Amino acid sequence: MERLQKMLAHAGVASRRKSEQLILEGKVSVNGKVIKELGVKVSPTDTVEVEGVKLEKEQKVYHLLYKPKGIISAVTDDRGRKTVADLFPHIQERLFPVGRLDYETSGLLIMTNDGDFSYMVTHPKFKIDKTYVARLKGIPSKEQLRPLERGIVLEDGKTAPAHVKLLSAETKANKSIVEITIHEGKNRQVRRMFDAIGFPVQKLKRERFAFLTLHGLNAGDSRELSAHEIKLLRVMAETGKIGT
Ligand code: URA
Repeated sequence: MERLQKMLAHAGVASRRKSEQLILEGKVSVNGKVIKELGVKVSPTDTVEVEGVKLEKEQKVYHLLYKPKGIISAVTDDRGRKTVADLFPHIQERLFPVGRLDYETSGLLIMTNDGDFSYMVTHPKFKIDKTYVARLKGIPSKEQLRPLERGIVLEDGKTAPAHVKLLSAETKANKSIVEITIHEGKNRQVRRMFDAIGFPVQKLKRERFAFLTLHGLNAGDSRELSAHEIKLLRVMAETGKIGT
């Protein structure tokens, strides 16, 4: 259930305030009955008309964004910083990010207006893998990375076992590049996991989300997900694997 004025705004009829005005002016009906007061709640199965024209439901849309660093993963920001929604000025639908990447983290972020889809692919019980590449201060040994592979206790609980691989190391500069795959999404999880073993993250990028990659995109670019990709993600979330 959703407030009538919110549904009108989501369907792109007008802003929330303008939609309230339309209701107060008696221009909106629900299931054939004119509604003149605010606060009425409607469900997706109700028939809503504005000035006699039936409301079309907003199309569900799905975009894959290469989020640059220095942008927040939100739709609005009270401090006036640039948001990921600002990268879609040409899209009419109200996109929100599926999960979050920190302000300083770059990489793959799905943007959609489909709340059910977002829930499915981010909930840890559905175990969708996300792969990050981190530049660390210091060079961890295999032994030092092992706690992350077993699961490590953070202040909000123990993490699930992660796959971790040292990709390269620069002895002189004392830094390394490490790939890590997790399926949870605790706040600042990767940064806190590496902090916990004494190797702070200097730079972080999400390279993969399930089978999706950033292939062909530069920071700030986006593309629509195909119908097939959307279906595969749903199947993966439901079954834990890609079905055939
Ligand atoms: N883990 C982090 O620490 N930051 C992110 O943005 C994503 C995962």
